[in-house]
Formats: sequence, structure tokens, C-alpha cells
Amino acid sequence: MIPESFIQELLARVDIVDVVERYVPLKKTGANFSACCPFHSEKTPSFTVSPAKQFYHCFGCGAHGSAIGFLMQHAGVGFIEAVEDLAASVGLQVPHEERNAEIRAKKAPLTELMGRAMAFYREQLKASPKAVDYLKKRGLTGEIAAKFALGYAPDGWQGLQQAFPDYDDPALVECGLVIVNEQGRRYDRFRDRVMFPIQDQRGNVIGFGGRVIGEGEPKYLNSPETPLFEKGRELYGLPQARKAIQEEDTILVVEGYMDVVGLVQAGVENVVATLGTAATDANVQKLLKQASRVVFCFDRDSAGDRAAWRAMEVSLAHLADNKVVEILQMPGNQDPDEYIREHGREAFVQQTRNATRLSEFLLRELVKQTNPNTAEGRAALVHAAKPLLQKMSAPILRVQVTKEIAHRAQVSQAEVEAQCGLQPLARSRYAPAQMKQRPVPSSIEYKLLQIVLHKPEWAGRLPLELIDRERVEGDALHAIANAIEHGELPAGGFGMLLEFFRATPHEALIAAIAANMTEEVDLAALEGVFNDSIVRLRHTAITAEIEQLTARAPGTESGRAATACGTAGEEASVVGPDGRRPGVI
Ligand code: UTP
Ligand code: MN
Repeated sequence: MIPESFIQELLARVDIVDVVERYVPLKKTGANFSACCPFHSEKTPSFTVSPAKQFYHCFGCGAHGSAIGFLMQHAGVGFIEAVEDLAASVGLQVPHEERNAEIRAKKAPLTELMGRAMAFYREQLKASPKAVDYLKKRGLTGEIAAKFALGYAPDGWQGLQQAFPDYDDPALVECGLVIVNEQGRRYDRFRDRVMFPIQDQRGNVIGFGGRVIGEGEPKYLNSPETPLFEKGRELYGLPQARKAIQEEDTILVVEGYMDVVGLVQAGVENVVATLGTAATDANVQKLLKQASRVVFCFDRDSAGDRAAWRAMEVSLAHLADNKVVEILQMPGNQDPDEYIREHGREAFVQQTRNATRLSEFLLRELVKQTNPNTAEGRAALVHAAKPLLQKMSAPILRVQVTKEIAHRAQVSQAEVEAQCGLQPLARSRYAPAQMKQRPVPSSIEYKLLQIVLHKPEWAGRLPLELIDRERVEGDALHAIANAIEHGELPAGGFGMLLEFFRATPHEALIAAIAANMTEEVDLAALEGVFNDSIVRLRHTAITAEIEQLTARAPGTESGRAATACGTAGEEASVVGPDGRRPGVI
């Protein structure tokens, strides 16, 4: 964990304008800076960066955040990586992360070797008509080969010696390029193969996959696990796909190197591959971070079906209610590369549009396995659903699926929940605090929260005793006021505030308000609204109190009757002369 105080120090030290400008050219417009949004396609700039608030926001797509958030969103890196990157840019050391720094320092020379090997293989490809021919036959152009830095490892035991005069360097063995046999002889791992460099999110080469040209075993040879390369974590093609993924807010996941390259060649660019392994937790977490929709594409054979089931199981545990995972089982016996070559881009895209939602896939497979036409089959259905329902992290989706299972099994939802040891939604450990009550955007509390997010110091003036903690907005207001009272709330703008509430129950609500911020506000007017809202809050409280007192006071039967009458009158007024409500036919 990185201490909160360090995050604050870091954000005080960096200027979000510099950070954004590293990636996006900014234009000064009044107090702010603007640009065309890097997170969606647009012609007129609606992306603004506020130096005063240390916050960026796009009025078009709602993207927003601090300098840390920007790096996470733009480079697709995790929180810790973003913090480390920023810290390095201003010469700060991230505390408690010495171990990471050490690991990184150790990795740097290996990364350099891998980069050099990639350049060598690329050169060799130009010199090998055989390899070029093979790629051409597979429908690839030079442009795509360059985009993926494809190469060729020459035939010969020590081809790499040309690139590495110090062929005995143990680092070459450590990064998996060179193998030492039992007699101590060294030789290249990859020989006479087309080379696919595997890059991490930053574009560093961390491994290779090498395909035999034509027939041969093994078809693909991969780098072994090294300090740089952990197979189950990486996604092939991510750096090349980043922009398209952001544009489409969808990420397609295929099984092979050639599927990625073939789809991109045909114009489908938001695609990555797991590296010949079934989807792992790390894969799925990374995938769900990149886009709100993930479509797994599998071949339609028994291995593909098993992989699809596995992807479903793993996804269940990482899903959220605002994310969608889908499974596409390719028609015929074709993999995505073969399919798109034969049927073209449009047909493939159509297939992805018809992919099966995770919940649907789960139900369909369970029903197939258990055959709920008999009592035994229906019992087996609930039994088989149990471990899957228990894994599901998206609370609302889980309820939906539970209901479906209950329906098919001809039992009640409560019976399925009890049988599967599921907590009902309200007490679910997954249910965030927000589940207590949805925010009401027109409520006074919501308005106050919007204002306080602009001027956190005003939270000190809130009449907290009148603000209901049971409401989500109210709870957030209490949290901000509390932080102010204890001197914990960082000064330094909205960006800082967002980081302060990261990974707390208030994060989602505060981010949602941030995403909907409209324009720069006039502080005097804002303060007017703030004061009015407090007056309204007091007024509501007083009215409620008066009502309570009158209701309780003795001898007010008539008063109560009058109220009842009033209600009846209101009822009557919406009922038409024929006794029907207007508009309800
Ligand atoms: P496939 O056998 O489906 O190959 O393996 P492919 O992607 O269709 O390749 P082409 O079209 O014949 O060239 C899918 C993935 O499984 C891993 C690789 O990552 C491959 O891309 N694999 C497969 C291996 O690692 N080794 C192998 O021998 C075969
Ligand atoms: Mn293939």
C-alpha cells in the first residue's frame, strides 16, 4: 500500500497540465486548457484540463480524474504503476515500494536485450524471402508486419551472435533467448521461425512467440517464464489495440497470435489474445479495466468449449454490474483469423454483435448439462448453479440469474438463495453502501454534494444533524465534513478529492457527479445556491417537526381528518368524471 499522505504530496508536486500535455497537445482557453478528447473521437474539443482543480474532464464522454487517473486511463496502467510513473517524473521515491524499484532495476537490462533481439529479428525478416512469402500467403501486408514488429529468427544454432557479440552473457539465458545444453553448449531458442514479439502495456518486449514456417512441431514455440514474462498475466497485442479499445469501449479476446494479426489486417483493431492459456484471473481483471464490454471469441471445438466455460467461470468473479462479458463461439470449424479471411470484416463484426451474454451462456450450459425436465434434473440444476452463483461478484446480475435458475427449477428465489448460501441483496457483502438508497439527483443533499465538490471547505458549514446518513449523498457529505474536521481533507482541488475517496464507498457517487460536471461555475452564485439549500434543508426539518407535533398533540382528530381529506381530494382530482384516471385506458 502507498500511504495516502504520499499521494497527496505527489499530487501537490505534479501539475496535471504537464502530465496531460505529455500525451495530448493542449490549448489555453481562459483559465483552463482544452483539446480534442483522447478518450473518444470528436472534431471539436470538449476535453478540458483545469490547473486550479488539478482535474480533467470531458463534456463529451464524461471521462474525468486527477493526474493519476489520467495516466491510468490513458496508458491503461494500474494505480500503483501510475503513481510510480508520476513520482519518477518529479524525482520522488514511492515509499514502501523499494522492492518494486529493485525488481524494475533488475529488469531494465533484460528489457533492453529483448528490444535488441526484436530489432535483429525484424532485420532478418527483410532478408528472408521465405519468411516474407509465408506472411504474404497468410494475407499480411508489410504495414501490419511493421505494426506488430514481426520478425524472423534465422536458421542456425547461434544466429543471435550477430546481434549480441557477448553471446555468453548469462542475461541472454535469463531472458529465454539462449538455451544452455547439458554439455554447456549455448544455442538460440528460436531458429527458423516467424517471430511475434510480446509487449507489455508500455510497449516493452517481454517475450516472443515463434511460428514454424509451414508444417512442423511445435507449431508455436514461446519464451519461457522469465523475470519479464509471466504468461498468465499478459495479453498479446494490447499496446497496438489500445486506441481502438477506447473508441469502441469493447475488447475482443482471441486465442492466437495469428488471430490478432489477421483481425487487425482485416480492419478489426480492438483485439488481444491470451497467450495459449485459458483465461486467468489476472487476464480478466486487466481486460475489464480496459473497456466495459469484453467479448471472448473461441473456436467451436471441444477445446474451445472448455475454454469458453473456463472464461465464464473466471469472469463471474470479476464482473461488475456496469460491465458486460460475452462469449462468441465461432461458427463452423474456423478460428477468427480463418473466418474473417473467408467472410470479411462485416460478417465477423456481425458475429461479435450476436455474441452470447455471460448470464445467458451460463444458463444455457447449465440447462444443457442438467436437463430440468424432470424433478431430478431441476434439483441438479440448482446444485450445479451453486458454485457459479457463489462466485458472482455483480450483485444485481446475480439476482437476475438466481431468479432465472429458480424459475427453471420451479422453486422460489429465496429457496435458491438459501440452498446456495447466498445472502439476499440488501445484506450482500458485495452490495456497496450505495445500495442503501439510490442517489436522487434532484434532492437537496445531492445539490449540496455537487457544490461541496467544487468547494470542499464549505462542508464545514453544513448542518450535519439535518443530513440523513441513510441517503448515499448524505453519507458522502458526512464523510467530507468529517475529513475537514479532522484536517484530513487535502487541499489542492478536485483531483485530490477524487484520489482521497478512491476505493471508499463514496468513490462511485463522487465520480458520477464529476463525470456530469457541466461548466465553470460562478463562485458567488454557487455560494448563493449553497446557502439557499441549507435554508431549504432547515425549512424541511422544521415542517417535519411541526407535522409530528401536531399529529401527536391531543385533540387533533379534526386536524388529522383534514389531512386525510386533503389526500382524498388530491386523489379525486386525478380521477376523471367517469371515475377513470386520465391517460389510463
Ligand atoms: P492454434 O493452434 O489455434 O493456432 O493456437 P493458430 O493461432 O490458429 O495459429 P495458426 O493460424 O495455425 O498460425 C492458438 C495459440 O495457442 C498457442 C499460441 O499462443 C497460439 O497462438 N500455441 C499453439 C502454442 O503456444 N504452441 C503450439 O504449439 C500451438
Ligand atoms: Mn489460425
